Amino acid sequence: MNGDITQSQEWAALGKHHDELAGRQLRELFAEDPGRAGRMTVTAADLFLDYSKHRVTQETLDLLLALAERAGLRERIDAMFRGVHINVSEDRAVLHTALRLPRDAELVVDGQDVVADVHAVLDKMSHFADRVRDKQWRGATGKPIETVVNIGIGGSDLGPAMAYEALRDYADAGITARFVSNIDPADITGNLAGLDPETTLFVVSSKTFTTLETLTNARVARRWLVEALGDDAVSKHFVAVSTNAAKVAEFGIDTDNMFGFWDWVGGRYSYDGAIGLSLMIAVGPERFREMLAGFHAVDEHFRTAPFEANMPVLMGLLGIWYTDFFGAETRAVLPYSQRLHRFPAYLQQLTMESNGKSVRADGTAVTTDTGEIFWGEPGTNGQHAFYQLLHQGTRLVPADFIGFAEPYEDREGMHDQLTANLLAQTSALAFGKTADEIAAEGTAAAIVPHKVMPGNRPTSTILAPKLTPSTLGQLVALYEHIVFVEGTIWGVDSFDQWGVELGKKMALDLAPALTSDEPPTEFPDASTEQLIRRYRELRGR
Ligand code: F6P
Repeated sequence: MNGDITQSQEWAALGKHHDELAGRQLRELFAEDPGRAGRMTVTAADLFLDYSKHRVTQETLDLLLALAERAGLRERIDAMFRGVHINVSEDRAVLHTALRLPRDAELVVDGQDVVADVHAVLDKMSHFADRVRDKQWRGATGKPIETVVNIGIGGSDLGPAMAYEALRDYADAGITARFVSNIDPADITGNLAGLDPETTLFVVSSKTFTTLETLTNARVARRWLVEALGDDAVSKHFVAVSTNAAKVAEFGIDTDNMFGFWDWVGGRYSYDGAIGLSLMIAVGPERFREMLAGFHAVDEHFRTAPFEANMPVLMGLLGIWYTDFFGAETRAVLPYSQRLHRFPAYLQQLTMESNGKSVRADGTAVTTDTGEIFWGEPGTNGQHAFYQLLHQGTRLVPADFIGFAEPYEDREGMHDQLTANLLAQTSALAFGKTADEIAAEGTAAAIVPHKVMPGNRPTSTILAPKLTPSTLGQLVALYEHIVFVEGTIWGVDSFDQWGVELGKKMALDLAPALTSDEPPTEFPDASTEQLIRRYRELRGR
């Protein structure tokens, strides 16, 4: 739909329905409808979703699905997969789904055979990764590579870093990966510590190859290498991932050792392409391709499943339900998997850089909240930190719980304990404990209110067989498409990120005020002036 979705009759119907449903308890909804749990599930590839612990009835779902139709979700999904320029503010196609198309698929966009291009890069990556893993690619002094250091930030860091942590158990060639992103010198210093230049390979990852943090860290890394091994060593120890060959060459990296991608892949949607090179070197091309197959399976589910049985559609619509009708501000993502400890951080960029927008694609102001705030920590650590607020606080925090049936490796039944915690938490959040139940346990009357568990706290539970390259790809694709569904309902361009530009430019403009010998005479504002003066004083300038 063009224009303001909040003016539609579907939106109004949801508002009215919310007024009727908001006071209902999940306890009641389960008691009234014994088939609810069995019915409110959906499967996408290996992912099983139980969404019965949401504050919805069949009527809610019907109304949300009608909203999706009104927003033109079906046409928009088709448009994305076809390569229409749905990123309007940058006039670009949005084709991260093409990064995982099988070799025999066909997709020609703007006259370009996208599938052939994607597989040419994947083949080049695989060839290179195999050579590094097989010790054919060696450092300048003839030693094999033992550590890959990915230098990148945002989408050029979070994806491969998250996935490497998730798939560490599959890193079978004795090569470890490290990730440097921050302009804080502590990051590169810490990550270079203990490394041997002779066995270290740097992968400089930047879509634009103009990002200050990445180029600065890359220069520091090059100096570190050159001081140990000399200028000639650079070509054996530096490769690049970018869309900008000219800048790669300017930096001094041979473009033969550059792995490309295209402007139709957003940074936060890019780790399943060349930005995943460090991951591929660690886990091998075969595992990487299994991950791509997982992504693709969920892409196909999203593209073809009817909306009422479509996991990203349902989860996206639930996000709209809580954000815009219940006024929830955040969504917690709680993986019961230590290996997914970077998953919430990865999702923060994916979701918040995509849908943190105040204008619709046509430039008009939105009239409802957009952009859920994503956050989270792995269970059970979160339980001992912030779950108190989830259970008894005044705020509504919908949460996604993610669990796996099989561990990669178990010890003394710990994995079952982990899963028992996941299940206990979602049940306690949904159904709580009443004052009567607590009093019946013999609790003193004065203490009863403190122990009441209000319940009615909505959660999704995603259960997968095991954390593998494939299920990781499935999970990431799921959230990519949730973002898409929400962005479509809100009518925003989920694929630009103009909001991060101003701060970057201002930092460049401000840097001389901090570093120059002469005190600056111009300041952007009085508060910043005071802070600059204080900083210079503290640094003795
Ligand atoms: O600052 C935001 C951003 O543009 C992200 O969208 C992107 O992932 C990141 O910076 C890094 O950009 P690049 O890959 O071009 O270095």
